Amino acid sequence: MRIVVLTGAGISAESGLTTFRDSGGLWEGHDPMQVATPEAYADDPGLVQRFYDARRAALSQVEPNAAHHALVRLEDALGDDLLVVTQNVDDLHEQAGSRRVHHIHGRLRSAWCTRCDERHDWHGPLADGPACPACGASGLRPDVVWFGEIPYGMDLVEQALDECDLFVSIGTSGVVYPAAAFVHWARGATLELNLEPSAGATDFAESRRGPATRLVPEWVDELLA
Ligand code: OAD
Ligand code: ZN
Repeated sequence: MRIVVLTGAGISAESGLTTFRDSGGLWEGHDPMQVATPEAYADDPGLVQRFYDARRAALSQVEPNAAHHALVRLEDALGDDLLVVTQNVDDLHEQAGSRRVHHIHGRLRSAWCTRCDERHDWHGPLADGPACPACGASGLRPDVVWFGEIPYGMDLVEQALDECDLFVSIGTSGVVYPAAAFVHWARGATLELNLEPSAGATDFAESRRGPATRLVPEWVDELLA
């Protein structure tokens, strides 16, 4: 059985990372257009870098939760037949031990050099304009996909969705494209696991409501039983 799992901020919420759109979420204190677009970065790179520096720093305070761990158990059983596609820029899937993870919106712990195009694993801040380890220039930006930019590796995702027997969406509000359309691209059965109905909830064949730390382990247990 081939499965594609899509995850969003809701899977990391119980680890202590703020979601975007829930009350008190990241976007409440920030206009996305002021921190998450190429134009914002061109206008005020310091503001954008500080926003992402704070989020990168927050990563060292959190740990994967039972939902991330359950997906590792699923990967142990399915191997190449499971692909986790995440909109999250945190690395909690990897910290839990997932290996087949694709970040369509990039990763906080990666820096991308706008001068030489190299990418580097990065754990510290970028606002102070550190030198690129490859070319020495000071042109590193967060390696995340901003509004108006093209998500990473969509060919791979499209193919996996076209070949899957089951598509499961976990902890995403379903308002940001292209991820919001995956339910339509998936050839197999569809299941949503989310605290509240997403924008596309009625497009799923089945929906379950509750916190990810309960729903995901329950679903994985059921599948592996
Ligand atoms: P959102 O903040 O839009 O949605 C989070 C979803 O998680 C909501 O539907 C909540 O109901 C659900 N949720 C919250 N706590 C949960 C819990 N404990 N268990 C299960 N579900 C829970 O986050 P995303 O959908 O991931 O993109 O946002 C998608 C994209 O929008 C992000 O990747 C980011 C943002 O703008 C970019 O920055 C390009
Ligand atoms: Zn460089």
